[in-house]
Amino acid sequence: MPYGNAAGYDGYMGRWSLKLARSFVRFACPEPPEAALDVGCGTGSLLRAMAAEFPDCRLFGLDPSVDYLVFAGTKTGPAIFVAAEVEALPFAQGAFDHCLSLLVLQDIRDQAGALREICRVTCRGGIVAACQWDFAHGMPMISAVHQAVEAVAPELYRSSRSKAGRAFATLAELRLHWASGGLREIATAELPVTLRFADFTDFWLPVLSASTPTTALVASLPADARDAVSLHLRRVLLGSRPDGSFSLTAHAFAVRGRTG
Ligand SMILES: C[S@@+](CC[C@H](N)C(=O)[O-])C[C@H]1O[C@@H](n2cnc3c(N)ncnc32)[C@H](O)[C@@H]1O
Repeated sequence: MPYGNAAGYDGYMGRWSLKLARSFVRFACPEPPEAALDVGCGTGSLLRAMAAEFPDCRLFGLDPSVDYLVFAGTKTGPAIFVAAEVEALPFAQGAFDHCLSLLVLQDIRDQAGALREICRVTCRGGIVAACQWDFAHGMPMISAVHQAVEAVAPELYRSSRSKAGRAFATLAELRLHWASGGLREIATAELPVTLRFADFTDFWLPVLSASTPTTALVASLPADARDAVSLHLRRVLLGSRPDGSFSLTAHAFAVRGRTG
């Protein structure tokens, strides 16, 4: 399981997810949902945004990590949580009018099978929507850490890449995937998110959380290599400025469509 340490995840990626979730919900839900499934809900950022926007919606969160589900349960209002994977959703055909997923596509091996399964549990005319980072051009927190690990420990970095999943490289690729899954009325959007860090420590401590594939890679380094990664990142993020606040902007790809 590449994901663990729920509180660590929430401090590292959850801060981004929560901000992104607000704009993703507005894009993904052209009408108020009645019963919505969050596939790969993690620590519950999307469910929190859904509950705030649509207080009458029945919310379901699904994730293979029980640790994350328990954490999400303490942070979200009324919702039903299910430990399972997208490849075999334990729900009846057409159980939901909205199936959403935030920052999960990069972890899915069988993309076509997963989309088929999501469409199966979405009612006819329902919405299927997903959002992932634009990893190639627009997730500076992850790319800065990757570049630092690659500079400090190139061999370890290369061997970790062969185990990585794959996200969609462009919005067009994501749209094509939705179209080949039989979805119609497809819309896409690029969603920017800016996050402010109080200082370098505010950025660096969550990177040590070993909660995601990227942070687990950092945690697997010997102490001296970890220190070198920290120095590298400090140079990249602050340059010659003294330690202090800075902001990073990430860009995400979002897609939505209706089942036929
Ligand atoms: C980067 S996290 C995103 C979590 C949350 N949606 C968010 O935005 O913060 C990826 C999540 O996908 C879940 N996941 C990984 N593989 C999965 C699968 N096959 N089916 C469902 N969820 C999966 C992980 O457990 C993790 O919680």
